[in-house]
Amino acid sequence: MIIGTYVRHCEKVSSTNTVAAAMIRDQAPAEGTVITASYQDSGRGQQGNSWESEPGKNLLMSVILYPVMVSPAEQFIISRMISLAVHDLVAGHSQAARIKWPNDIYVGDDKIAGILIENSIMGDTLATTVAGIGLNVNQEIFRSGAPNPVSLRQVTGRELDLGAVTGDLIAALDRRYDMVIRGEAATLEREYHKALYRAGEWHRFSDDTGEFEGMIEMVMPDGMLSVRKREGVSRLYAFREIDYIL
Ligand code: BTN
Repeated sequence: MIIGTYVRHCEKVSSTNTVAAAMIRDQAPAEGTVITASYQDSGRGQQGNSWESEPGKNLLMSVILYPVMVSPAEQFIISRMISLAVHDLVAGHSQAARIKWPNDIYVGDDKIAGILIENSIMGDTLATTVAGIGLNVNQEIFRSGAPNPVSLRQVTGRELDLGAVTGDLIAALDRRYDMVIRGEAATLEREYHKALYRAGEWHRFSDDTGEFEGMIEMVMPDGMLSVRKREGVSRLYAFREIDYIL
């Protein structure tokens, strides 16, 4: 076991990712160290967004990894494995769990978890990863104006034990990270595609050319999304170059 041998719980922090980064800078924490919090007053999301979470209701976690076996060109494998671990957990509660590229976790058309991965690179390998995970567990009212939030409580119709959910997620993360260590990239890729939201079906999207109908074909090893347009050819997209019409 690597992930979760040391777990530090904080009642209130700015952001568990910020705490993890400070620990890496000052304390040489063991690989797999997990930081959890009951509340963040400056929770961070992707693209400079904030992350809403009512005190004590949800899972707020950052994991410290040293994935020196991963080259910068392959770093999307970290996104795949963290997404799959969160998906494993959510799929245990709902068959409608999916991974929305690149690393949101959805139930149906609603977002139940977000992931913020912050890597540092040294030479030709990753040196450090802080993988921040926000999973909505028992929150029922969302105020921030996020378009489509949902929680496990809302999906299952019952209140969940946050400690048990945290333990289950740590176990899933450890199992998925072990696959990275063992070089099981092809299996991670296959399972990520199996769980991919809206893959292999015609749906509406928009890009810099406007709205169109397209089909997600695959996510490339470098994390680019390949989408075939019904009228036209396939195109590769980086994060934020394409929007899903929900
Ligand atoms: C997203 O925008 O979808 C990513 C959200 C990531 C939120 C988690 S909560 C724990 C960790 N600490 C943070 O400040 N952010 C991540």
